[in-house]
Amino acid sequence: MDMNEANTHNHELVTHKGFKLINGTHDPDDVDQIYNLEIRDSDVFVVTYPKSGTIWMQQILLLLEAKGDLTAISRLNNFSNGDLIPWIEVNGNRQAFITAPSPRLRVTHLQHHFMPPGLSQRGKVIYVARNPKDVLVSYFYFHKLANMLETPKDFDEFFEKFMRGDVFGCSWFDHVKTWYLHKDDMNMLFITYEEMIQDLQSAVERISLFLGKELTDKQLANVVEHSTFKNMKKIPQANYELVPSDLLNHHQGRFMRKGTIGDWKNHFTVAQNERFDEVFHKEMKDFPLSFIWDIRDIS
Ligand code: PPS
Repeated sequence: MDMNEANTHNHELVTHKGFKLINGTHDPDDVDQIYNLEIRDSDVFVVTYPKSGTIWMQQILLLLEAKGDLTAISRLNNFSNGDLIPWIEVNGNRQAFITAPSPRLRVTHLQHHFMPPGLSQRGKVIYVARNPKDVLVSYFYFHKLANMLETPKDFDEFFEKFMRGDVFGCSWFDHVKTWYLHKDDMNMLFITYEEMIQDLQSAVERISLFLGKELTDKQLANVVEHSTFKNMKKIPQANYELVPSDLLNHHQGRFMRKGTIGDWKNHFTVAQNERFDEVFHKEMKDFPLSFIWDIRDIS
């Protein structure tokens, strides 16, 4: 989520065309105009439900552009990766996109129906999906950190909100399912956060190949090196450390929090887990998507 552009702290979500936007951060009329954008062959959109690895993919894309040279991106970047690969839906960013030089790399949390139909002929999309139990936990902590979102009373209250889709991004299930359904309508790489955790080297190679990049083995190794959780934590622009404290309450925790699979086990009650599983099976039964739910399941 773009921290630099958020300018409201009234925590209000606005429902627009079946989706929830953040008042002050997003303007519904402007979001509607995204549909009319002309797409270039070189455009790349990273699409995520919040807390699914957006900043991680921003880091990888920036490093691929810079052929693994971290200092080249740090020089350009005053606050966060979101300055160089902005959210298309945040106020002001759509207008800037129109005249921006190629390649235009952007991220979005929007649902599929807001996006330009031109994406079916031109450009590339990378969808990153993360197991929704870990998304829920990560989002809970992010609501404490981010001043533009309402601080949850406690985990149980947030669990209910997430299950109702009463958050920016709405229902995780709708987001992943609708994008997945359209994956063959466009040039899309569908990848999971868990695959990236399991084998970052292979994930980076897949992304590089998908984008048609030609990096040497050494350059690719540098991309991997500078996009591990451990190393991104040390890079102020890649961990939102430089984002002003009126937008992110840095005393409430860190954006780069756990970076792993299965933290939900430390938060969900048995009853919450059973309920979640029931909903998951009902919602996802016709989808050939499987997730890794525990870091111990990684070989
Ligand atoms: S946002 O606010 O929607 O843009 O958040 P997003 O960037 O999508 O997701 C933040 C979570 O991704 C984790 N993260 C990583 N995990 C593993 N490795 C790397 N390199 C990495 N970079 C970011 C980040 O820690 C958040 O997850 P949690 O579970 O809260 O730690």
